[in-house]
Amino acid sequence: MLIAVPKEIFPDEHRVALIPSSIAALTKAGLEVMVESGAGAGCFHDDQAYEKAGAKIAPNADALYQTADIVLKVRPPEPGEAAKLRDGTTLICLMDAFSRLDLMEQLAAKKISGFGLEFVPRITRAQSMDVLSSMAAIAGYRAVIEAAGLLPKYFPMLMTSAGTIVPSKVFVIGAGVAGLMAIATAKRLGAMVEAYDTRPAVKEQVESVGAKFIEFDLETADAEDKGGYAKAQSDEFYKKQQEQMKAKVATVDVVITTAAIPGKKAPVLITDDMLQSMHPGSVIIDLAAERGGNTEGVEAGKVVVKHGITIVGYTDYPSRSSVHASQLFAKNITTFLLNMVKEGVFAIDLQDDIVKGSLLVHDGQVIHEMIKPLMAKQGE
Ligand code: NAI
Repeated sequence: MLIAVPKEIFPDEHRVALIPSSIAALTKAGLEVMVESGAGAGCFHDDQAYEKAGAKIAPNADALYQTADIVLKVRPPEPGEAAKLRDGTTLICLMDAFSRLDLMEQLAAKKISGFGLEFVPRITRAQSMDVLSSMAAIAGYRAVIEAAGLLPKYFPMLMTSAGTIVPSKVFVIGAGVAGLMAIATAKRLGAMVEAYDTRPAVKEQVESVGAKFIEFDLETADAEDKGGYAKAQSDEFYKKQQEQMKAKVATVDVVITTAAIPGKKAPVLITDDMLQSMHPGSVIIDLAAERGGNTEGVEAGKVVVKHGITIVGYTDYPSRSSVHASQLFAKNITTFLLNMVKEGVFAIDLQDDIVKGSLLVHDGQVIHEMIKPLMAKQGE
C-alpha cells in the first residue's frame, strides 16, 4: 500500500501533509511512503530528510500520482490534480466540500474514496485526528499577533517615567477553539480581554483562560446542536446581537471575530454603523472572512481600512505558521489513517463513527448526509 504526499500547489500554501518525523509510524504499520520532491520546502523539510526517515522521493507530481494508493494532502485538489488520481484509490485531505461540489462529482466519477478531514466528528477518540482544532488554534494565536502588530498602541499596561500606559482592550466574539486561543494569547501580551459566545456553556472556559465573559440579553437556549456546534440563528437574533454589541465594540481597541456556523455563511455581527462608532486606529481581525466574514466590508485575504478601522481578512494563518501547522496536521492525518490500518491492511469500515462521519465519496457515489442533498439540489 503506497501512501503518497504531493507538493501543495495552492498559491502561498506552505504546509505539507506529512513531515519526516511522521513517516516512521506509517512504515512501522507496514505502509510505504512516497513524497513529491520539494513537498516539504515550505516548512523547511528537504528531500534528504524524508529519505532518511524512510520515504521514497517522486521527481514530480505525475510520477507520484501514477503509483499512489492513498494520497494525503492538506488542501482539496484542484481539478487538474484530481484528474491525476488513479481510479479506485483513496484521498484524505481538507475537502472544503460545501463549496467544492465539482470535486465531489469528479471523485465519484473516478470511484475515489474521498475523506474530508473537516468532517471528523469532535468525539474523544478522534481528538488526536482533529485537524480543524489544530489549525483554528494557530489562527487564534496569529490573529492576536497580527492585531498587536497593526494596532498603533501597546497591548500591556506600562508604568514609565513618561507616564502610565493603560492596557489595550481586546474583545473576542466566538469562543471556540480559535477564540479561546486568541483570548489566551492576548492575555499573555498583557491586554484586557473580554469575550462573548452564543453558547453560554463556554463561560467557564473563557474565564479559565483569563477573559471576562460578557453576557447580552439574548435568548441563547437553542444555540448549540447535538455535536456542540453553534446553530444558525434568525436574522432578528443577529440584529439584536448587533444592537447590544455596538456599545461594547465602541470601547475596545481590537475585535477578533471567529463566529462560524458549520456549512453556512458566517453571520454579519459588525455592521458599517458599528465600525463608525469605533475609535479610528482600532483593528478588527475577522477569522471568518473566507466564509463571507463577520464584519461588513471585510475582504477575504486582504487588509482594508474603513472609517479609520483596519479590517484584516487573511484566510491563511495556518500556512503562515507552516512549521507547526504541518507538524500538527501530520500527526492528525497519520492517526486518522492508522485508525483504518489493521496488520498492514487498509480497510474502510463504515461501522466506525470516525470513518462514516468523514467519508464523503465512496463506490462512485457522494454518500455523506450533509453533502448528498446539496448534490441533488445542484442536479435539479
Ligand atoms: P468553532 O466552531 O470551534 O468556534 C466558533 C464559535 O463561534 C463557537 O463557539 C460558536 O458558538 C461561536 N458563535 C457562532 N455564532 C456566534 C454569534 N452569533 N455570536 C457569538 N459567537 C458565535 O470554530 P473554530 O474552530 O474556533 O474556528 C473559528 C473560525 O476561524 C472559523 O470561521 C474558521 O473557519 C476560522 N479559521 C480561520 C482561519 C484563517 O486562516 N483565517 C484558519 C482556521 C480557522
